[in-house]
Amino acid sequence: MNNNPIGIFDSGVGGTSIWKEIQKLLPNEDTIYLADSKNAPYGEKSAAQILQLSIKNTELLLENSCKIIVVACNTATTNAIDYLRENYRVPFIGIEPAIKPAALQSKSKTVGILATKGTLSSRLFHSTAEMHAKGIKIIEREGVGLVPLIEQGKINSKETLNLLKTYLKPMLDEDIDYLVLGCTHYPYLAPVLKELLPVSVQIIDSGEAVARQTQAVLEKNELINPSPQLGRHQFYTNVASEVLKDFIKENKASYSVKQIDF
Ligand code: DGL
Repeated sequence: MNNNPIGIFDSGVGGTSIWKEIQKLLPNEDTIYLADSKNAPYGEKSAAQILQLSIKNTELLLENSCKIIVVACNTATTNAIDYLRENYRVPFIGIEPAIKPAALQSKSKTVGILATKGTLSSRLFHSTAEMHAKGIKIIEREGVGLVPLIEQGKINSKETLNLLKTYLKPMLDEDIDYLVLGCTHYPYLAPVLKELLPVSVQIIDSGEAVARQTQAVLEKNELINPSPQLGRHQFYTNVASEVLKDFIKENKASYSVKQIDF
């Protein structure tokens, strides 16, 4: 079991931002990544649809003998992780917006969060925010339209810039000092965001925390791969995606990308 891969899924290319953190921290682990780009964006779907898609991805990863599953998607985590944990026997790692560290560090006591509609409307997001951000003003904005643009690789387009300006305006009007990126696609927007935000605003996401949690859960379950060899990485996508290849090409790890139907 220890040599089996870590399974990772997302609605598309965004979860590669999480894969990079996992690969950096756990270089000897093999991984299988599913980019369900055909069904992106998840954030605009109903909770029931998000659950069905999460089940489909989980079952494919389990058929491929994954020893642990990382739900590298805030929208799928906040809508499906409880069900997945109750119904499948492998450990699951989820990702939620980094509200807690932002709330702890904020001096202006006002933080912005950009996430999908599916995440912001979920019960799990609200209970986390209530628990960890008492006394903090949270300015929420749905990043409608951003995921499709990132899926097409249009990071630096005028359209992306204009959408971001619109979403950031109410946050900047309220003097946020932290911007929480509550979608795994959004770290790819960081260079554009940095140009739009004053230096006083910190951008924060949950990627590193998810990698550390993955390591902790593997250790606790005695599932760490003892091999001294560098891991191998298989990426599966259900659309022809040059963007996926583009997002991982800088990485020195050994990987393959295949288009399959799932
Ligand atoms: N990357 C996803 C997330 O973290 C989902 C985006 C989407 O498909 O709407 O929420």
